[in-house]
Amino acid sequence: MSGVKLTGMMDGQLNRAVDILRAGGLVAFPTETVYGLGADADQEAAVRKIFAAKGRPADHPVIVHVQRAENIQSWTIDIPPAAWKLADAFWPGPLTLILKRSSRAMDVVTGGLDTVGLRVPRHPVAQELLSRLGGAIAAPSANRFGRVSPTTAEHVRREFGDALDLILDGGDCQVGLESTIVDLSGPTPAVLRPGYVTAEQIEAALGMPLGMENESSPRAAGRMTSHYAPRAKVEIVAPHEAAARFATLTAAGVRVVVLGGQPDAAIPEQSRINVPTQAEAYAQQLYAVLRAVDDAGFQVALAIPPPDEGVGAAIADRLRKAAGPRDGA
Ligand code: TXA
Ligand code: MG
Repeated sequence: MSGVKLTGMMDGQLNRAVDILRAGGLVAFPTETVYGLGADADQEAAVRKIFAAKGRPADHPVIVHVQRAENIQSWTIDIPPAAWKLADAFWPGPLTLILKRSSRAMDVVTGGLDTVGLRVPRHPVAQELLSRLGGAIAAPSANRFGRVSPTTAEHVRREFGDALDLILDGGDCQVGLESTIVDLSGPTPAVLRPGYVTAEQIEAALGMPLGMENESSPRAAGRMTSHYAPRAKVEIVAPHEAAARFATLTAAGVRVVVLGGQPDAAIPEQSRINVPTQAEAYAQQLYAVLRAVDDAGFQVALAIPPPDEGVGAAIADRLRKAAGPRDGA
């Protein structure tokens, strides 16, 4: 992710992005995880626009992105040593820390909670944007509420059309899944959302085991139904179940696609989407694959998850959420 040269066009777009953010507008920008829909985190009216654009409930907190670890100090009180350990180990990178908020973190940002989510992204465009802004960017993933997160600029364009002031195109996101969220506001650190940075890596960096999810974080990531969901219904199946389930649904007239697994004579090639077996590569492509399922008009996707270890745990989490009950459906 380092060493990406900013082209002349990107240089001009970054200046425009800063002007828009200062004027209280919205800018979509790339991070190494997914694209974010950003507003100046210190402008209440600007952050409100994010909720309107996404169709997101107002009590849902957004992550504050800062350029460097030391920038979290003005956003928080009582920073525990664990926060600096994780910052040293994983920032800049795909990790969000939940900490006690200072008065700088407005209710519109925290959803009224007494904590704030903070992240130092690694993507060079996000880094450069934060550096030129000299401030902080409040940003959720740049998708309509409850839908699949965007991992390309084109995904963002298709979600929002012309509703955004600017979309910075930084290419395909390398991680492809939203950041790992670690709650450091309770008695023991706890993972609220698995991601590319795994629980094992966090425990190793902390030198202590993680606790259970903190009950005082009721609005943590993805607790709501219908999160990370394509239009197609997602069903999680074991490799040996895929062919039989495919046959049953196809016989019932349902347009089914199988995600992953080995080629199988019982499943025609046009009803299979190949996904990488290696977990990091699978994660990077997951959301593009789910969008491709919708684009091709499939009604059901039978997903064979990778082994539930390392990044595989985060993929399994997103697939379970995509497969979970839908609001009102
Ligand atoms: O990788 C990412 O985290 C991306 C990029 C753009 O940084 N952002 C992202 O934001 O995924 P969003 O809003 O789609 O998901 C952030 C999650 C939300 O589900 C929210 O509930 C949780 O973080 N969150 C934010 N602040 C929180 C807080 N103070 N306490 C508990 N959960 C929090
Ligand atoms: Mg999101």
